[in-house]
Amino acid sequence: MAADSFYITTPIYYVNDQPHIGHAYTTILADVLARYHRLLEVPTFFLTGTDEHGQKVQQAADRAGVTPQAQADATVVRFQALWQKLDITHDDFIRTTEARHVKVVQEILQDLYDRGEIYRAEYDGWYDVSSETFVTEREAEEAGGADNPNLTRIAESNYFFRMSAYQEWLIDYIETHPEFIQPAHRRNETLGFLRKPLGDLCISRPKARLNWGIELPFDADFVTYVWFDALVNYISAIGYRRDDDFFAKWWPAQIHLIGKDILTTHTVYWPTMLKAMGVEQPRTIFAHGWWLSGAHKMSKSLGNVVNPMEMIDKYGVDAFRYFLIAEMTLGQDAHFTEEQFVRRYNADLANDLGNLASRVIKMIRKNADGQIPERTSHETPGAEEQAVWATVQEAVTAVADTVSTLHLDRGLASVMTAVRATNRYLELKQPWTLAKQADKGPLNTVLYTAAETLRVLSALLFPVMPERMAALRSALGVPQVAPQLDRLKHFGELSPGVPVTDPGPLFPRAKPLSSLQEQELPMTEEPREAPPATPAAAPTKPPAAPVPGVIDYDHFAQVELRTARIVAAEKIPGATKLLKVDVMIGDERRQLVAGIAMHYTPEDLQDKTVVVVTNLKPAVLRGVKSEGMLLAATKGESLRLITVDGNISSGATVK
Ligand code: MSP
Repeated sequence: MAADSFYITTPIYYVNDQPHIGHAYTTILADVLARYHRLLEVPTFFLTGTDEHGQKVQQAADRAGVTPQAQADATVVRFQALWQKLDITHDDFIRTTEARHVKVVQEILQDLYDRGEIYRAEYDGWYDVSSETFVTEREAEEAGGADNPNLTRIAESNYFFRMSAYQEWLIDYIETHPEFIQPAHRRNETLGFLRKPLGDLCISRPKARLNWGIELPFDADFVTYVWFDALVNYISAIGYRRDDDFFAKWWPAQIHLIGKDILTTHTVYWPTMLKAMGVEQPRTIFAHGWWLSGAHKMSKSLGNVVNPMEMIDKYGVDAFRYFLIAEMTLGQDAHFTEEQFVRRYNADLANDLGNLASRVIKMIRKNADGQIPERTSHETPGAEEQAVWATVQEAVTAVADTVSTLHLDRGLASVMTAVRATNRYLELKQPWTLAKQADKGPLNTVLYTAAETLRVLSALLFPVMPERMAALRSALGVPQVAPQLDRLKHFGELSPGVPVTDPGPLFPRAKPLSSLQEQELPMTEEPREAPPATPAAAPTKPPAAPVPGVIDYDHFAQVELRTARIVAAEKIPGATKLLKVDVMIGDERRQLVAGIAMHYTPEDLQDKTVVVVTNLKPAVLRGVKSEGMLLAATKGESLRLITVDGNISSGATVK
């Protein structure tokens, strides 16, 4: 982000209930972005907090039989405890019941009132407590009207902010500032909303109806509407009207991160409020999608709310942070299931990254006197070293780009590509064989190159997994993450002779929740080292299948089987059991590695229609990528491929 300072905010969360995965996600995302900016040495300020007034909190307090302040005090500590557990590095935490906030809200109200921006009138309409918003007749009707317990019909005298006066200005502002509301489909949603005439905003509630709020400075019979109060946190926290220098240092915010549920309040109410106050607009309001629980919206009544504390206790903080950031394509909805969590954890972290780190560190400790080896016996690194380094550099660029576009999932995917390329490089170079040679030059080159890639990749992953990456870096003798980007671009920063220590298993393999996940490609010749599962990492939940070895249909249905026509096959040099097989699956060409060389010659295979598992994560065997698995029947020494009975075009579903 080309800015000399970076101020990022999360929504402030209601204290009516305990935090869940949705709150955790927004806050982790903000934390990761803040950490990246700090690494790039951009002055950074990260704000989060709690929204403590309004009817929702009042109702929760009534249900609990406590005062709203006691409700807020009891709930805020749950948010604070979760942020601490999640390693969130916010610079400030604002509570809207704090005097520093209340006073600023009142001054703003008084000023707007004095300038005629606020007037008194009757409000006759609907109020939705679940979103704390005034809704139109039509919206209320669609939501069930009086039958919906969250809707209340209100007819009361109130104060209004002249929001309608800013409608034309706002449309023009949004149209001329494409970066203002992101992603683009959310900008269109707001512009669509603004096509209808914009009314004025009711900004008060009579105390006779609701007294849990900030008192209007010009009429003690009213409290402030909770959204008018809450949005102001973004400026009250950084010294608006209190500390001009501090305010000027951070405002305008670079990013208000929000969920898509609170788009209108942030892209219509807030900009018009700022405009009326004469305050500059934030640079970007970014709305992310929803986390769904499996296919469903999370809701207390469905009992499917994901509790972040439980996931952290089972799998560790960093794995949880990684999953949320890697799994959600920003701007779209994402699905959370524990099965998918474990699958990704095992694939990306235990197998790919954990395995790479443990291999490299173990080999250095065993074969290079436990020290970073001499860089190379050759003047310039060879083609393979350059190829690996190129994938690492692509990851550096991708992460830098995605920090500005916020599509961190893509940045992480490119880091994982580099991790896999490095694993492939090791499989190709076979340092375990090189270790047997008298000349240690080639071995040192491989180990040094692999350690260098780990140095850079661990820095790129540090903002997402600070604790585990600090452990990895300290094992490599580079505990500090050097902030400058050029350190990441330059090969040869690790100093030979620095001791390498054993960090223990970084990501112990978790026990899969579905038995299908345990299947590994059967034709691996060089078994991959996977650290053993520790009790801490093993899920305490019983596996999904009640009878050992029996799976339910849903699990079976996760395996995608298709017919495929073999169009080419060849031996893989140096691998006696493996063949590289090219297949057509409909119009798609794929390359597979199959452990069938003892049973079929390449010629035998030409034009055969076989059955392939198409949704297996790609694997690399002997440096060759395999994008699927051929099915075969085996017994004892015999092996026969599964074929189809009669003619059917390739790409047909097998079920
Ligand atoms: N208090 C208001 C925000 C005021 S900001 C000036 C509010 N609070 S909330 O507690 O309901 O939290 C809303 C935010 O939590 C969402 O905008 C989103 O950032 C996050 N999420 C809550 N549930 C979510 C999901 N299921 N999925 C993703 N994020 C969601 O609204």
